[in-house]
Amino acid sequence: MICNCKQVSYNDIADALHTEKNFTDVLKAFEDVQKVTHCSTGCGGCHAKVLDVVSEILMGHGEA
Ligand code: FES
Repeated sequence: MICNCKQVSYNDIADALHTEKNFTDVLKAFEDVQKVTHCSTGCGGCHAKVLDVVSEILMGHGEA
């Protein structure tokens, strides 16, 4: 579980990224994930964690 406030898991973030194919940069991707999952809209404490996961997944895409 990445975001406890909104109950967003790693897989939720991965799914959200898979539906959005055009990644311009990590911050844009983060905003899109946030729109879909509403992660990091509660306490905001997971912001860095969500950002980590987004960039991790985007890096993985880049290599694939
Ligand atoms: S844990 Fe994500 S907004 Fe609080």
